[in-house]
Amino acid sequence: MKHDRIAVIDFGGQYAHLIATKVRRMRVLAEIRQPEDPIEAFRSYRGIIISGSPSLSSSGEDAAYTKEIYDLPVPILGFCFGHQEIAKRYGGMIEHARTEFGLARLHVAHDCVLFEGLPREQVVWMSHYDTVTRLPEGFEEVGWSTVDGETGVHHNAAIADPQRRRFGFQFHPEVDDTEHGEAMIRAFVLGVCGCRPTWTMQRYIEEQIEHVRERAADRTVILLASGGVDSTVCAVLLARSLPAGRLELLHIDNGMMRKGESDLVMGELRRLGLGDRIHFRDASDDFMAALEGLTDPEDKREAIGETFVRVFEEEAGRLGLGNALLGQGTIYPDTIETGGTKRADVIKTHHNRVGMIAGMIARGRVVEPLADLYKVEVRELGEALGLAPALVWRHPFPGPGLGVRLLCSAGRIPEGHDAARAQGAIDAVLAGTALSGTLLPLRSVGVKADLRAYEQPVMIWGDAPFEAMLHAAARLYKDVPGVNRCVWDATGRGVGSAEPVAAHATRKRFDLLREADDIVMRALGRHGLARVVWQCPTVLVPLRLDARGSELVVVRPVLSERAMTARPAELPRELVDEIREPLLRLPGVTGLAVDITTKPPGTIEWE
Ligand code: XMP
Repeated sequence: MKHDRIAVIDFGGQYAHLIATKVRRMRVLAEIRQPEDPIEAFRSYRGIIISGSPSLSSSGEDAAYTKEIYDLPVPILGFCFGHQEIAKRYGGMIEHARTEFGLARLHVAHDCVLFEGLPREQVVWMSHYDTVTRLPEGFEEVGWSTVDGETGVHHNAAIADPQRRRFGFQFHPEVDDTEHGEAMIRAFVLGVCGCRPTWTMQRYIEEQIEHVRERAADRTVILLASGGVDSTVCAVLLARSLPAGRLELLHIDNGMMRKGESDLVMGELRRLGLGDRIHFRDASDDFMAALEGLTDPEDKREAIGETFVRVFEEEAGRLGLGNALLGQGTIYPDTIETGGTKRADVIKTHHNRVGMIAGMIARGRVVEPLADLYKVEVRELGEALGLAPALVWRHPFPGPGLGVRLLCSAGRIPEGHDAARAQGAIDAVLAGTALSGTLLPLRSVGVKADLRAYEQPVMIWGDAPFEAMLHAAARLYKDVPGVNRCVWDATGRGVGSAEPVAAHATRKRFDLLREADDIVMRALGRHGLARVVWQCPTVLVPLRLDARGSELVVVRPVLSERAMTARPAELPRELVDEIREPLLRLPGVTGLAVDITTKPPGTIEWE
């Protein structure tokens, strides 16, 4: 049967693929297209959606792409950069005028088919530097936005020209945190474009099984099975696709696993009936050696990813399977964050996307049946394949494990750190609240307007409701240059001084982090929050606070669905009270903070 299709033009925004996923969930086939694809490639679609981009519409340079799309008689909808490009095309003005990251409030001011039946006021998610400051002729301002706790209005947050059927949103309706985003996209795809919903996930599974068989031909696949949700679902899918004897599983203990994790994983894989093909290798020495002396997050990620490949090659040789294919449970965010599409910026290099693996992919030696999916789809697929909900709904755990949660430092203040200037800006934001704050002399990874942001956190303290802290945090990212994160001091002491400490990736520090992580995860379990909180990294940060100790423990509880955006989860005060003492008793630990950053501008992991 022929399906109605939507084209999603990928300008390299972090969420381009997410748009396609959201459309497919409406059972309409969406396909990713490149901006320079010839106009012929666009003619058969019933509608076009233009994604966001790390490029700026206001840059003065005209973005190069197939502009004839605007002459096609089909509806066009743009998000963020796409919205600005539509406005620009019809004569609007775009300026580098207002930045927003994370939560904003949309006020619908004008009737529009895309907002039918939706509340007049709703939460939307923003990530941008540019804005539409003058509407083109024929367009109307459908909605404007505000940020809580701030005066001033952001005009033209949603615009429409109903005659031409052109629509633009400055916010991202495709991310899960935009309250009614899915309804807006549905109204466009099923309503304005009139697509018939005929596409299914089952079809996707059948295609992948076929694809794996073709790729593997007569070779054996060795799957790196970390025991996380993705690699386990992948194991079951591969076992369905390949005949007996053609799939081997390799579980590597990299020395950066959670406490007791490897035993748990091996038990789980055996229970799934995969026991006769599991191989275990304790490679913690190799990983510790590879990390020696490294402090830069990308260097660490590269070293970890390459060590995985080396150990894989060694084990393949040992099993007499020198030409085996490497199987990985890579999912879509791993690719997009690694800058794996043509225009996307590298936010962080995921362990399964390092240079050595890119080379193997180019040589056709890698099998990744989940590479188009997001976590929530992987979970649905896992349930469809008969995996236990307790396994499928486990917290995601990154391949590099605690390696991206153990910050390392040469003990130097970050370049460009201007404590006095930052303090002035922080004090101005926090004036009139019950909060105080200080800039911490270290950096962590984040994402701002589709670009990597390796910037500093602000630590705040004082007693204020969670919502008030979130508002303060949102203003800190905007008003204090070079800030991408906000953490709340959970000791109640406040901070007089904070100095970086030289620290590297050592077994001793990993043991310390393992203990801290275990304390936090057990507490989440006791409070019945393991499922409510989507993921909860515990991070070890080398920092001397008020001339004491050498480590700060940061707990990062988040709510998310696809990990492309996230919001901080509020931990009950009793839980924080319970973990404070045992954590502060760990050797060298002098501080405890809870990360309250949205994504963007912070990523979930710190590195
Ligand atoms: P961030 O930190 O970018 O993470 O917000 C998004 C999700 O991806 C996980 N993550 C990884 N998973 N290999 C993985 O398998 C990696 O290199 C990696 N880096 C981040 C992270 O835990 C979160 O769920």
